Amino acid sequence: MMEDKFVDQQGVYLLSHSVGLPLKTARSVGDAGFWEPWLAGNESIWSHWLAEIERFRGQLGTLLNSDASHFCPQTTISSAVNKIIFSLTPSTHKNVILMSEEDFPSVAYALQQSHGLGYQMRYIPAGLNLNDLAVWDEYLSDDVALVLVTQVQSNNGVQLPIGAVTAMAAERSIRSLVDIAQAIGILPIDIQQWSADFIVGSCVKWLSGGPGAAFLWVNPDMLELCQPQNVGWFSHEDPFEFDIHNFRYAKDALRFWGGTPSVYPFCIASASLEFVGNLGVDKIRQHNLKLCDKIIGSLEKDELISPVESNSRSGTLIIHFGAKHDQITEKLRSQGVHFDSRSKGIRLSPHIYNTEAQIDVLTQLIDNSR
Ligand SMILES: Cc1ncc(COP(=O)(O)O)c(C=O)c1O
Repeated sequence: MMEDKFVDQQGVYLLSHSVGLPLKTARSVGDAGFWEPWLAGNESIWSHWLAEIERFRGQLGTLLNSDASHFCPQTTISSAVNKIIFSLTPSTHKNVILMSEEDFPSVAYALQQSHGLGYQMRYIPAGLNLNDLAVWDEYLSDDVALVLVTQVQSNNGVQLPIGAVTAMAAERSIRSLVDIAQAIGILPIDIQQWSADFIVGSCVKWLSGGPGAAFLWVNPDMLELCQPQNVGWFSHEDPFEFDIHNFRYAKDALRFWGGTPSVYPFCIASASLEFVGNLGVDKIRQHNLKLCDKIIGSLEKDELISPVESNSRSGTLIIHFGAKHDQITEKLRSQGVHFDSRSKGIRLSPHIYNTEAQIDVLTQLIDNSR
């Protein structure tokens, strides 16, 4: 009974694309990792806290098949993106940053700040099929310096072919930045299968790790080329050297860190990363697909907006009930189904803590309110 491991739901909670439900152990994990070392009132506070953050990096490495040293903790994805932009030296011939109009706006806002460095933004129009490599072939042109590829786009629930796009970018000497915010914890990810230069993500959604524990993965081949501008003593090769005239970048991804880090979010997140890793993302995904198939089976033609094909389907279903949209969604809300809405429709994300019985209630409600 996997749902017993998570806090009890009020109704049917289908918002894992937004905020995953916490594990029941989240409070005690926070007590042990964050409060106890602090409340102990001795000099070993930071060694405990930094060990928690190392655990976080290690758990990310295990889940995503990479080395802990390639990960740098971040507070948000957008700030990680901003740090990437200001760490690279722009070239006058290759100065376009490419992204899709369906990518997440917060990441776009961070990328748009690059204009002061001489970059220009270019957007792949919404509506083009980003699973068609011919589209990428056309847009990954010689003047592109950096491409953002979002593994799962949050408005349309589409999963993109990251391996193929990052390989195409690498062949053309275009730096690639992959946003895995909506994928980590629900789609199995093996970083070794990609040719990415940077990967950003967070733990608040499918990982149930709460807000504030974001991260940046940097390809080790890129490190020497990256000179982040937004730094602090934890970006130093030896943070405890304290020589005011001698800043040297950390040799690993921690050069992207900054000043005194937050700790609490990483305690919560590393416990949930460990939980998800032990359970297996494959298992979560199989359960998600089974529940999604049940929901899809109850829909009428054209109501499913997100893809039906398994290779381009994400963990989230986007549904629009056409003329009956308001009447059905009001009914669902009034009966305690928790979901949200974007311009294309409602978003439903069944997780391991959702049961088949809950989905049967949902599909019955849909049927009865037609
Ligand atoms: C694809 C994607 N990227 C990024 C974010 C969040 O970015 P940030 O951590 O900057 O808030 C979200 C949040 O919903 C998202 O869906």
